[in-house]
Amino acid sequence: MIREHWKSSIIFVLAAAGSAVGLGNIWKFPYMVGENGGSAFVLVYLACIVAVGLPILVAEILLGRRGDASPILAMQKVALESRASKAWAGIGWLGSIAGFLIASFYAVVAGWAGKYTVTLFSNEFEGADVPQVESYFATLLGDNTSMLIWGFGFLLVSLAFIALGVHRGLANLARILMPLLILMLLGLLVYAVIQGNISASLHFMFDFKPEDLNSDVILSALGHSFFTLSLGMCAIMVYGSYMPKNTSIGKAALAVGFLDTAIAIIAGVVIYSIVFDNGMQASAGPGLLFQTLPVAFEQLPNGHLVGGIFFLLVSFAALTSLVSIIEPFVAYMVDKGMSRILATGVFCVICSVFAVACTLSLNIWSAEPYLIAGLSIFDALDYLTVNIMLPLGGVLIAIFVGWVMKDTKIRRELKPQYEALYLVWRVFIRWIAPLSVIAVLLNQLSVI
Ligand code: PHE
Repeated sequence: MIREHWKSSIIFVLAAAGSAVGLGNIWKFPYMVGENGGSAFVLVYLACIVAVGLPILVAEILLGRRGDASPILAMQKVALESRASKAWAGIGWLGSIAGFLIASFYAVVAGWAGKYTVTLFSNEFEGADVPQVESYFATLLGDNTSMLIWGFGFLLVSLAFIALGVHRGLANLARILMPLLILMLLGLLVYAVIQGNISASLHFMFDFKPEDLNSDVILSALGHSFFTLSLGMCAIMVYGSYMPKNTSIGKAALAVGFLDTAIAIIAGVVIYSIVFDNGMQASAGPGLLFQTLPVAFEQLPNGHLVGGIFFLLVSFAALTSLVSIIEPFVAYMVDKGMSRILATGVFCVICSVFAVACTLSLNIWSAEPYLIAGLSIFDALDYLTVNIMLPLGGVLIAIFVGWVMKDTKIRRELKPQYEALYLVWRVFIRWIAPLSVIAVLLNQLSVI
């Protein structure tokens, strides 16, 4: 069977940016900025994107396109071609398995955003104060029926697009939702400039205060740069495998990195401009989006409508990421001869078990004997994937491309136009990226 490919490099950029731009940008990034002292975190994060994120992004796309197959088979092919062990296919396995685990809790959080979209549009928060919205959120976390309906809703919509295939499903989803998302975000930025406290927001995000810098800030910025670019779990690799041969990997990677970073920064500026306008706190943690922000929106003219648009944007961003989390496994089953629809069904059945466990772990399973190393199933899956599996995948990818893959093969895919730029990338992929990610990994495991 002939594999489908994106029709142009723009479609690849939109799809890969769709994968990268997600809850990580709009939910996690803004609260991490708040928790880690504002500008210090933003600056380190930008440095990490350039020094670690972009080089690995290039490496993942390169492996996918060279292998022209699902990540497991692509890694096998590329390893054999460089006379290396077939065991490097383990990177593909790691990513495909991580897909099940990430999708299960990602769909749950996406479900919250979906539910909030409806709540804000229907003006249910009218006149609500912080304790009221906090209790609304707490009630949602105790309501399994509602969370399961919303979480499965997201999962099923994603699976429907995946089943439609690369052109009709993935490409169309990205082609429609990404421009809409960017338009909505720019609209929100204009609203934030007119109605919010934009100057306080800009000062908070960009006034560099060296005293706020410490090793925790650096390590969390590095860890996050990884998650936000969808690296380490072969999502970008599988998208790279659908990339047409004659397109430039370097340019596409730059475009994806730029879009992901710009969208995270604009989302942060919008959120803080609205939060500060109400004299609220920056360090609200994970509750920033679901507890603080709705109250802040309610104080502004047409706040419920604008807030509804904001949560719709979050839902779109989550959807285009969710499909990319699922695709590596489905692509493998398709390579093995299974139909796309059946492969999608298999994913759905297995993932459902984890998704239900994740949901229940937020309430009736939140205590012993349902804890794993003291964490709820939801937190344990988040920790295992984001803090261990993704960085591990990333290090292995950097080591493979930096040290194992033959230079001639790399050059054949990258077709570097500027030799100096290529050599700089080589240094980053061989040394800086793996060593930094190993430092993060050891820190996560509390070794350093
Ligand atoms: N990059 C996505 C986000 O920022 C999350 C993601 C991680 C998607 C890994 C695919 C693979 O939300």
